[in-house]
Amino acid sequence: MPPLLVAWVIDTVSGKTPLWMTQISGSNDPWQLALILSILAVIIFALESVFQWAYQYGFLSLAQDVQHQLRLDTYAQLQNRETSFFENHRLGNTLAILNDDVNQLERFINTIFNELIQMGVLVLFAGYVMFSTSVILALFALIPVPIIIAASLFYQSKISPRYQHVREAVGSLNSRLENNIAGISVIKSFTAEGFEYERVEDESKSYLNANLSAIRLSAVYVPLIRMSIAFGFAGVLLMGAYWILNGSNLLSVGQLVLFSMMIQRLLWPLTRLGTVLDEYERARASAKRIFHLLDTPSQIQDPECPVHLNGVQGGINFENISFSYGKAQVLNELSVSIQAGQTVGIAGTTGSGKSTLVKCLMRLYDLNRGSIQIDGINIKQMRLKDLRRNIALVSQDIYLFHGTISENIAYGLDHVNASDIENAAQLAALHDFIMSCPKGYQSIVGEKGIKLSGGQRQRLSIARAILKSSPIMIFDEATSSVDTETERAIQQNINRLTAGKTALVIAHRLSTIRHADRIIVLDQGKIIEDGTHDALIANPGVYADLWNIQIGNVVK
Ligand SMILES: Nc1ncnc2c1ncn2[C@@H]1O[C@H](COP(=O)(O)OP(=O)(O)OP(=O)(O)O)[C@@H](O)[C@H]1O
Ligand SMILES: [Mg+2]
Repeated sequence: MPPLLVAWVIDTVSGKTPLWMTQISGSNDPWQLALILSILAVIIFALESVFQWAYQYGFLSLAQDVQHQLRLDTYAQLQNRETSFFENHRLGNTLAILNDDVNQLERFINTIFNELIQMGVLVLFAGYVMFSTSVILALFALIPVPIIIAASLFYQSKISPRYQHVREAVGSLNSRLENNIAGISVIKSFTAEGFEYERVEDESKSYLNANLSAIRLSAVYVPLIRMSIAFGFAGVLLMGAYWILNGSNLLSVGQLVLFSMMIQRLLWPLTRLGTVLDEYERARASAKRIFHLLDTPSQIQDPECPVHLNGVQGGINFENISFSYGKAQVLNELSVSIQAGQTVGIAGTTGSGKSTLVKCLMRLYDLNRGSIQIDGINIKQMRLKDLRRNIALVSQDIYLFHGTISENIAYGLDHVNASDIENAAQLAALHDFIMSCPKGYQSIVGEKGIKLSGGQRQRLSIARAILKSSPIMIFDEATSSVDTETERAIQQNINRLTAGKTALVIAHRLSTIRHADRIIVLDQGKIIEDGTHDALIANPGVYADLWNIQIGNVVK
C-alpha cells in the first residue's frame, strides 16, 4: 500500500490527481487531497500492524504446538522401540533428533512457512499493481524472475546433501560429548583428557567442515540473485524515464515511482527465496530423521488379541529356546520347566547366557526359536505390560533415576504409601543407611545414583523389586556388591518374601543360591546340570568344582 500512496501524492502535487480521488473527496485542492492521503496512510499502517500481530501470534503459537506434539510423539515412539534399537543407535544421535531436529521444524514453521505465505501474497499484489499500471514495463520487471527461480532450484539441489551431512555431524558430535561426560571418571582415572580432547576436536571439526561446506554455497547465492535483480531494476528505470522524457503519456512520474518501489517489493522477497529453500532443506533433513523414527514400528509388539491374565501363578516353561544377539548363538535349544512357587538358583560361567535368559523372559528380546510360557500361556500372547508387571527384576545393571531415594524405590508404581516404601527398604537392609542421611528418604541419589555406593545401589534396586512384589521375582547378581553378612540378612528376607512366589536367583557366589529348591547350571546357552545343591555337589561336575573352589577346597 505505501508505494501506492506515495504515487498518488506525487501525482496530486504535480497536478495529475487520479480521477477517483477527486470523485470520492469531491475536492480538487491538492493540499486537501494530500492531507486525506496522509490520514489514509496512518489508517492503513494501523490496520497492517493489527493484522501482522494477529498473524504472527497465530503462527508462533502454531509452531510451538507442532513442536510440542512432535517431540512427544517422537519420544513415545522411541520409548516403545525394542531394546536392541538402543544398542545399535548412538544415544547422542537419538537425542539430537529429539532436540535439534524437532527445533529445526519449529523454526521452519515459525519463520519460513510464515515468510513463504507473506511472500506469496506480496508477489500477487505487487504483480497485480504493476500489470495494471503498465503491462510492458511489468514484463520488463519480471525478466529476472525465471532466472531467480532456476538458480534457486539449482541451489537447492546442491545444498540439500550438504545439510544432510551437517545433521549427521551434529549427531555424532553429540554422541561423543554425551559419552565423555558420562564417562568422566574413567577419563580422569586414566588421565585420558588429552586423548579425549582430540577426539572431541575431531568430531567438532567434522561438524565445522560440514557447516562450512554448506555456507560456501549459500554465501554466493544471494549476491548472484541480487545482480539479476539489478538488471531488471535498471531496465525498468531506463524504459520509464525514456517514456516520460518523450512525453509519451504512457506513464506518469508517480507511476514510475510506484513501479520502482513495487519492483523492489516484488524482487527483494525473491532474494529470500534462497534462504527459504535453505531453511526448507534443513527442515527436510530434520523431518526425514524424525519421520524415519516415527514410521519404524517396534520389533517387539503387543499381540493383536492378547490373552487376559487373571492372577499369575508363576510357572515358567522354557521350551527349546534359541537366541542370538548377532551371529553367535547365546541360548542354544535350552529347555527347562520351573514350577510355580519354586526358588531356582542359576549358576554358570560368565557369558553363559544367564542374564539373556531373563531378558528373553521379559521380552526385552524376542527368541529366534522356541517359546516361553508362563502358566502355560505363551508370553507372546500376553500384552507386554501384563507380562512385565508380573515380573520384578533386580537387574545386573542397576539404573537409578535422578531424584529422591523414596521416588526411586517406588519407581513405576502408583499410590505407594511411605510405610510400604520404608518396609521394602528395611527388607533390603537399606533402611538404616537411609536414616543416617540428613534428608532420609528424601535424599537425592544423583544422576544414575552416583551418590550411592555400589552396594547401596544394589539394595535400593532390591527394595524396588520387593515393593513391586510380582508373582515372579528375578535377582540377577542382586547381592554381588554387598558384604556376606548383609547378603545373608537380605537373603533371609528375600526367602521369606518369595515364599509362594517363583524366584529366579542368578549368582556367581554359590552360597547365595545354596538353599534354593533347585539349581540349574548354564554353559554356552545350555543347561548342563540341574538339581539341588546337595545332589549337585555329591557328583563331580562344574557346580561341584565351583563350590569346592569357593569354599577353599582346591581341586586338582
Ligand atoms: N546386548 C548385547 N548385544 C550383543 N551381545 C550381547 C549382549 N548382551 C550380552 N551379549 C553376549 O551374550 C552372551 C551372554 O551374555 P549374558 O549377559 O547373558 O551372560 P551372563 O551369563 O549373564 O554373564 P555374567 O555372569 O557375566 O553376567 C555374552 O557372550 C555376551 O557377550
Ligand atoms: Mg549376567
